[in-house]
Amino acid sequence: MASRVPIWFMVVCLLSLTGVRAEESESKEFVLTLDHSNFSDTVGKHDFVVVEFYAPWCGHCKNLAPEYEKAASILSSHDPPIVLAKVDANEEVNKDLAAQFDVKGFPTIKILRNGGKSSQDYNGPREADGIVEYLKKQSGPASVEIKSVEDASNLIVDKKIVVVGIFPKLSGEEFEKYTALSEKLRSDYEFGHTTDAKLLPRGESSVTGPLIRLFKPFDELVVDFKDFDVAASEKFVEDASVPIVTVFDNDRSNHPFVIKFFNSQNAKAMLFLSFSSDIADAFRSKFHEVAEKFRTEGVSFLVGDLEASQGAFQYFGLREDQVPLIVIQTNDGQKYLKPNLEPDHIAPWVKEFKEGKVQPYKKSEPIPEQNNEPVKVVVADTLQEIVFNSGKNVLLEFYAPWCGHCKSLAPILEEVAVSYESDPDVIIAKLDSTANDIPNDTFEVKGYPTVYFKTASGKILLYDEDRTKEAIIAFIEKNREKIEKEESGKKIEKEESGKDEL
Ligand SMILES: *[C@@H]1O[C@H](CO)[C@@H](O)[C@H](O)[C@H]1NC(C)=O
Ligand SMILES: *[C@@H]1O[C@H](CO)[C@@H](O)[C@H](O)[C@H]1NC(C)=O
Repeated sequence: MASRVPIWFMVVCLLSLTGVRAEESESKEFVLTLDHSNFSDTVGKHDFVVVEFYAPWCGHCKNLAPEYEKAASILSSHDPPIVLAKVDANEEVNKDLAAQFDVKGFPTIKILRNGGKSSQDYNGPREADGIVEYLKKQSGPASVEIKSVEDASNLIVDKKIVVVGIFPKLSGEEFEKYTALSEKLRSDYEFGHTTDAKLLPRGESSVTGPLIRLFKPFDELVVDFKDFDVAASEKFVEDASVPIVTVFDNDRSNHPFVIKFFNSQNAKAMLFLSFSSDIADAFRSKFHEVAEKFRTEGVSFLVGDLEASQGAFQYFGLREDQVPLIVIQTNDGQKYLKPNLEPDHIAPWVKEFKEGKVQPYKKSEPIPEQNNEPVKVVVADTLQEIVFNSGKNVLLEFYAPWCGHCKSLAPILEEVAVSYESDPDVIIAKLDSTANDIPNDTFEVKGYPTVYFKTASGKILLYDEDRTKEAIIAFIEKNREKIEKEESGKKIEKEESGKDEL
């Protein structure tokens, strides 16, 4: 399943269409440099190899580089040696390779096993010692045997989900299925097995198994499960390891749970408030009550500290003066917002949401007071009016403020707009996609800039030609439609100029 973790949460650089080339440093020794030409051959020779996809301009990659190199040097003397490699995914020739591994941000690190036949995400730390420890564990057996209380306390540590199989003997069908489960989920959880439940810190100690016991640092702390079918036990582990309320703050040890939260198929209810405020406890305990009630009804719950949530606020178009607030995001991309709420509002509002009584919320920049530049500014709240209901031919650019190709296109679009200024039937417009929600069933915007043309009668065409003034004008001339009735055309135009100063 592709990850649904939102970009605002990930500690990565976004894939950018405008990579800047940086200087290669020459002093690297232990990390193998791979590219499209030798990737398969090299990976094919190893049972276990780690590959970092990076971009030279990405700051998070630069921070990782010396740690990764140090880890590679330590792990080169591990028995057997563990190989760390890297691929410059910014290089045009390596982009297919990166796409094959679903690289969406940098750095993306993958663990490849069996000569590259299986691959999993590296979810470990980003400093040398942590990387070394994590990879040693990953390259060993997926589940470790617990033979003493000390083994148990080494494995079952705070802040981690740990799964332990309890068996009368370490063989047989259940044990094999458990081993398969541990291999499948090893990158996300710690696994152990034992023949003696008394060694474990929590749970009924008289059991002999076969039994799967999950330890977690929240809620009921320990849960048992008896079905060894791999699909059933996988679902058990996934479900049991989601907190009733996930906490999002600056504590990185909570982040694996945040990732799980976003990967869930449920609607996602997020309460944002300042954890240091006096009212935080009252809110959190009410929210927890609501979560216990609705978690079985397809809603997951997260409480986020305002201090850690700038990215989320930008993404959802929220403001600090709306805090405390709840935003619910559903899988069809709709959002629902309850700003400035009181603890007692939480339950009734979530109930109303479940009953379909809450109107979706749309992120929009404010409607510009002045809109008299040649290229008109469209925001989410004026999209209907300017683009769909104007009855005109509209060329609309979806851009991002940070995008270099958009900056290059801007003066060209401006020239096009100037040449249509005296033509009442054609509008040239732009919309900041990072600050406005757009209906994704009408416009598919995967990269920036994306340019669409809506004809007077409402046909939607993707502009996929050269980004030159001549080509754009030729396209408009080829596809523009006459405005049907003089009368109604004029009428619409009048209404609009009254409202928008178009
Ligand atoms: C793979 O090819 C690149 C480019 O030719 C080279 O820099 C790199 O050293 C090669 N790596 C290996 C392991 O052969
Ligand atoms: C677009 O919206 C539809 C339904 O509204 C949803 O199923 C789909 O996942 C959305 N696609 C993206 C890329 O957000």
